[in-house]
Amino acid sequence: MSERPVLGIDIGGSGIKGAPVDLTVGDWATERLKIATPAKSTPKNVAKIVKEIVDHFSDTIGDGPIGVTVPAVVMHGVTRSAANIDKAWIDFPIEQLFADMLGREVAVVNDADAAGVCEVKYGAAKDRPGLVLVTTLGTGIGTAILHNGVLIPNAELGHIEIDGHDAESRASAGVKEREGWSMAKWIPKIERYYQTLERLLWPDLIVVGGGISREHERFLPKLTLNTPIVPAMFRNRAGIIGAARLAHDRLVHPDPLDVTTSPGPGDDRTREAAPGPATSDREDGADGGDRARDDSSS
Ligand code: BGC
Repeated sequence: MSERPVLGIDIGGSGIKGAPVDLTVGDWATERLKIATPAKSTPKNVAKIVKEIVDHFSDTIGDGPIGVTVPAVVMHGVTRSAANIDKAWIDFPIEQLFADMLGREVAVVNDADAAGVCEVKYGAAKDRPGLVLVTTLGTGIGTAILHNGVLIPNAELGHIEIDGHDAESRASAGVKEREGWSMAKWIPKIERYYQTLERLLWPDLIVVGGGISREHERFLPKLTLNTPIVPAMFRNRAGIIGAARLAHDRLVHPDPLDVTTSPGPGDDRTREAAPGPATSDREDGADGGDRARDDSSS
């Protein structure tokens, strides 16, 4: 584990938040910085804020790598979807833009994947073997699948179809808030969502994160499920911590078989990072202040 803190940055709908992370303990090494997300949240506008955050922490992080979360599918450094952000993110080579702007290595990862890694390495799913499903309930529904601690990236299970509808459009915390639903009205919807997931995936553990998990006592005990379901430990801090951890694991100690963030075939970095037959066959290109209590929604 690197001794120097690694910067994690979490791009959310209302704020872009960053903090250097002490990876030995899995917590922020200093206070975080939060800057409002630009009204037009295109990759280029967001990148300017990311640069401000990197510059702010440059003394602490040195020239080390950084990890950045986005609420989108990320394959080989390219964002491939944009459910709750500007559509300009679709098929955008974001890792390249960040690397060019920042002059350092950057790992860009899906926000729920980062949260999942944080909970498995340091939080509610630490030392839990088997299949763990980490969900983040916010504007959308983010999901991460981890098996024996290993992330299976880009699970977009917030978008499974239930009763003819995209699940997150019926069951997310954002919909509850927008529609002004009570807990009692929302519980059957989120219960149906988790019941569907457990029928399809048979997880050993479900972890529930996102701002609303602060109120877990009001809804988790009321869900009828076969799978143990627990609140996340890090809630909205998980994105920053998981992004830093993933950046460290991928950029400082890369796994040669992990092609999820390396560019597609034809790029030199792919060949250097991932030699051999395992990759050569691939065709596809993939509130300010108190950190201890910070779980404001993004
Ligand atoms: C997106 C996911 C994201 C989740 C949480 C969904 O709408 O498709 O990529 O992880 O929201 O932000």
